[in-house]
Amino acid sequence: MNRVHIKTYGCQMNERDSEAVAALLRTRGYRIVDDENDCDILLLNTCSVRDFAEQKAIAKAENIAVRKRRRPEFVLGILGCMAQNRGAALLDLLPDLDLVVGTQKFHTVAGYLDNLRAARQAGIPLAQPIVDTAEEPGSQNALADHILADRQVTAFVSIQQGCDMQCAYCIVPKTRGDERSRPMDAIVAECRALAARGIREVTLLGQIVTSYGRRDYAHTGGISPFVQLLERIHAVDGIERIRFTSPHPRGFRDDLVAAYARLPKLCEHVHLPVQSGSDRILSAMNRPYSRERYLELVAALRTARPGLALSTDIIVGFPGETDADFAQTAALFAEADYDMAYVFKYSVRTGTPAEPLGDPVDEAEKERRNQELLRLLEENSRRHTAALLGTVQEVLVEGPDKAGRRYMGRTRINRVVHFPGTEEQIGRLIPVRIDRVTPAALYGETVPAQ
Ligand code: 5AD
Ligand code: SF4
Repeated sequence: MNRVHIKTYGCQMNERDSEAVAALLRTRGYRIVDDENDCDILLLNTCSVRDFAEQKAIAKAENIAVRKRRRPEFVLGILGCMAQNRGAALLDLLPDLDLVVGTQKFHTVAGYLDNLRAARQAGIPLAQPIVDTAEEPGSQNALADHILADRQVTAFVSIQQGCDMQCAYCIVPKTRGDERSRPMDAIVAECRALAARGIREVTLLGQIVTSYGRRDYAHTGGISPFVQLLERIHAVDGIERIRFTSPHPRGFRDDLVAAYARLPKLCEHVHLPVQSGSDRILSAMNRPYSRERYLELVAALRTARPGLALSTDIIVGFPGETDADFAQTAALFAEADYDMAYVFKYSVRTGTPAEPLGDPVDEAEKERRNQELLRLLEENSRRHTAALLGTVQEVLVEGPDKAGRRYMGRTRINRVVHFPGTEEQIGRLIPVRIDRVTPAALYGETVPAQ
């Protein structure tokens, strides 16, 4: 009766939250299982950023509800962003739900499950499902445990929750609440503990990491709290690589650009959401930068760290986006020479500043714009991948690949590499010469030590 499966939708922050909830549940005597068809408690950790993400989770919950009717003791819960966004209204849609827990209440899940199980065991029917979507000061500090797989070498570390920006399309300020940073000491201690458990690469997570600690720490010598945090993690023995997501172009100041020239553990891969290449649309989106400023930033980063790989998020079909606006986005897309991009078709979100603008760009046009960017991306990606042929890349070895014939790891710019490896190499940085490339992966041979 205590086997829990957590299914996660959405971003890396959600993955991290699920992992932290799992770690907590484990300490409370629950078993975390991989098979959603063989569990007693199913928790869906959900995403609300686009309507499609919500619909997917709702369809899943409906499906599970059918199973639950055959097995009334089964527990079904919805956690995270959609729980926060829709709250008790989810029960109208999904009357079989037992539990709805919002983004500031993840740490309460174990207690609620204990109560549910105790009630079931005593044969007491619960009067009502549990709904908890309250705000809770300090919730960003409530969960910090990790479940690490055997010989895991990379980990996510949450540094901040929420966002105070008001990007017109975005539901995150509503689902994740006000911007709250975790204390620097706690984050550094977490990185140290992870290093001691074999982690070599950390990815720092927050909705707007460039704002990290701005209310809690002073700029010292022109260095922002976020860069101070990077410096401190950089000094942790055992941590060899640092990544972060997502920064905001506005907060990406000179001190952070300069960090790329002086902090070698900082991987030369930046995810820098642009959203649109049209100044008119950026302004309508309430994104406080221009295309010119964005491109200057990209150029400065590439000067600070030659070979830097860039990825981005783009929304096509924001209300009022004309062909001319989209042409600007396509031109910026080509100029920024992205390695990777996540292109999204605009989805109206209830309660966002853009909601009153409706959804005037029709679906076929959104799809056309989407396809055009994906075509450009494919060309870029092919060119970038081909350029890696014959080069020697530093690879952080993660373990045997899925096929079990080779080992796999990632380059500094996060490309997957397959190569003949050995168990002793797990967790080490090794040079691999790339001798074959496909769109999905690189293949190579380790280079003998000099
Ligand atoms: N519609 C489409 N895409 C969106 N995103 C955020 N809100 C919306 C929306 N309403 C995209 C942005 C953001 C990414 C995580 O999701 O590009 O950076
Ligand atoms: Fe959403 Fe904008 Fe905040 Fe990013 S910066 S989470 S897009 S409101």
